[in-house]
Amino acid sequence: TPEGLARAARIVADSGLLVVSSGAGMSRESGIPTFRDAMEGLWANFDPQELATEEGFRANPRRVWSWYAWRRDRVMQARPNPGHFAVAELAGIVPELVVVTQNVDGLHAAAGSRDVVEVHGSIRRVRCLDRGHVFSGELPVYAECEEQDPPPCPVCGSPLRPDVVWFGEMLPVDAVERAWSLAGRCDTMLLIGTSGTVWPAAELPLVARRAGARIIEVNPHRSELTHTADVFLQGPAGEVLPALLAEVRRLLAAS
Ligand code: APR
Repeated sequence: TPEGLARAARIVADSGLLVVSSGAGMSRESGIPTFRDAMEGLWANFDPQELATEEGFRANPRRVWSWYAWRRDRVMQARPNPGHFAVAELAGIVPELVVVTQNVDGLHAAAGSRDVVEVHGSIRRVRCLDRGHVFSGELPVYAECEEQDPPPCPVCGSPLRPDVVWFGEMLPVDAVERAWSLAGRCDTMLLIGTSGTVWPAAELPLVARRAGARIIEVNPHRSELTHTADVFLQGPAGEVLPALLAEVRRLLAAS
């Protein structure tokens, strides 16, 4: 609603530190499926236990290795959408903006966001199972991985796996420390495209709210976190965020 947008823009314009906390919905308009949307969500079509756990990987490394290559191919072909670009531009007009994302697609950085905390890792990186040697850059495409064993780590020989956080796994310590500290001292958290069903990432807006921050949520549907929001902007990120950016610009120009 216009009033909601005006209120959200006022909150953003008054923010010192703005933390943008994004989930899969942020990349939906880049053609990357979310996880829990009814029909096309990945977990409506694939079994997370089999594909996004270490047990699943150890039980069938070929299946997991090739499924992530299939997802990685889609990520590498995807382009940031107007929502990603709006977030990148917002960083140029508020005093301090940090993106904390659950997404592993790298699209915030591709859109120009320079300060991105990836709390669930990156599908653009792989690491080895035993020693955690990390590799990025040119990675094999799906056709090269289909029903192939994961290649051995060039350093220690143990199998390579995606450098993403699977269910039941710890989040990267440095990312967690930074994300939770930012949430605890931000003036505003802009919560975009997350169902708020996966912990501990879902706690971030609660940490921010407890510390006195205002919460703005952007989502076409209500989420598990909508109850924490001071303003709920109902709609797709690719449309709402550019509108919010324009409204903030108008406010700051008028002031
Ligand atoms: N713009 C904004 N939000 C959208 C859009 C859109 N165009 N389309 C869908 N959404 C919303 C959905 O309404 C839903 O609330 O995005 C959210 C997607 O929720 P999930 O699919 O659960 O994605 P996410 O919350 O990021 O999942 C968290 O679960 O599987 C794990 O590690 C994986 O990081 C992922 C985590």
